[in-house]
Amino acid sequence: MIKTAKRLRNIIPSVTTEMMIKAGELKDQGVDVIDLSIGEPDFPTPELIIEYAVTAMKEGFTKYTNFDGIPELKDAVITKFKRDNGISYSREEVIITAGAKQAVFNALMATLEEGDEVIVLVPYWVAYPEIIKLTGATSVFVPLDPESGYSRSVEKIESYVTNKTVAIILNSPSNPTGALLEDSFIRDLIKLCSNNNILIISDETYEQIVFDRKYKSITAYDGDISNKLTINSMSKTYSMTGWRLGYAAGPQQLIKKMVQVQAQTTSCPNSIAQKASIDAINGDQSIVIEMREEYKKRRDFVYSELSQIPDIFLHKPDGALFVFPDVSGYYGFNQNGKTIDNSVEFSEFLMDQFKLVVVPGAAFGCDKNIRISYATSMPIIIEGIHRLKKALIKIRD
Ligand SMILES: Cc1ncc(COP(=O)(O)O)c(C=O)c1O
Repeated sequence: MIKTAKRLRNIIPSVTTEMMIKAGELKDQGVDVIDLSIGEPDFPTPELIIEYAVTAMKEGFTKYTNFDGIPELKDAVITKFKRDNGISYSREEVIITAGAKQAVFNALMATLEEGDEVIVLVPYWVAYPEIIKLTGATSVFVPLDPESGYSRSVEKIESYVTNKTVAIILNSPSNPTGALLEDSFIRDLIKLCSNNNILIISDETYEQIVFDRKYKSITAYDGDISNKLTINSMSKTYSMTGWRLGYAAGPQQLIKKMVQVQAQTTSCPNSIAQKASIDAINGDQSIVIEMREEYKKRRDFVYSELSQIPDIFLHKPDGALFVFPDVSGYYGFNQNGKTIDNSVEFSEFLMDQFKLVVVPGAAFGCDKNIRISYATSMPIIIEGIHRLKKALIKIRD
């Protein structure tokens, strides 16, 4: 038997990816599956961005680049931060990564070791606790309150801070809830973190998918970058998930350490994706607006349909691609001799009996919920909601 590392023993595979694979397998078998588990935009990458990449390849831009990304892309990212968020960064304060996920990994690897604690707000994006485990540090889970739109008082957060707390991870708008954190909460949190020397890691991957409010990046609150790392991505904004391109901006000393991690893991982000991203960021942004408008229509439809279903509790998402209803009012009922008691069993029931794929909330630390994605076409969403309604009637039969 080959020896494998102890550190991987408790790592949970990505449930969201597993659901996607399961749905794909069923589709391949010809089953009429409705997949609402998808965590990526359904739009193709805009044609112009593809053309930029083709040009880059034809021009021979196919070699390794600097570990931390090419200077022209860093400049585009700096321009983006100035344009969209009103923040000024220098090249030394920016790193280009192979997606936001690698930026999260780099940051956590660069800052954490055994014994350290990281505050993770619940529900959380599935990857945070697993990456924290890989570093040997511990996640300290702080539940957000669904009834007040997934907010939390800073006093409550403070009660979780110890002398081992190194960082807190924010994700606003959130995957899975779609909720934005409140301004007053962020302001108080910034003070708390400054006073306790805690790094704020702000995952702003869904920044451009916000519907009813203007987005405010973490550093725009006070302009102080000394304890804030902002992470962003090309994946959702430009529908470029497979291109693997993200970026982060923060204090130079931290960025330097993140570059060290990156240099020994991937060497550099994909050269072609980097080149195409320059033009994507600097070019006409109307495609981003068009996609946002389409997501908003879908969000409105899904929210309106689900909020009419009895005994489902639902926060109206401010952004991102998901709704996260509490379906626990439908737990405890018997189906074919088996009681449905949790989000995994509930999701399995939807998949087995109605060929409807969603992600169980347990993956995000909330067993009362399921995550439904609207990153798919309206006819599929309509049929998915129809099947969910039928399933809820059947459960209580
Ligand atoms: C909150 C959040 N952060 C980061 C990522 C990863 O993005 P990327 O494709 O840039 O690695 C995702 C992807 O689903 C996400 O939901």
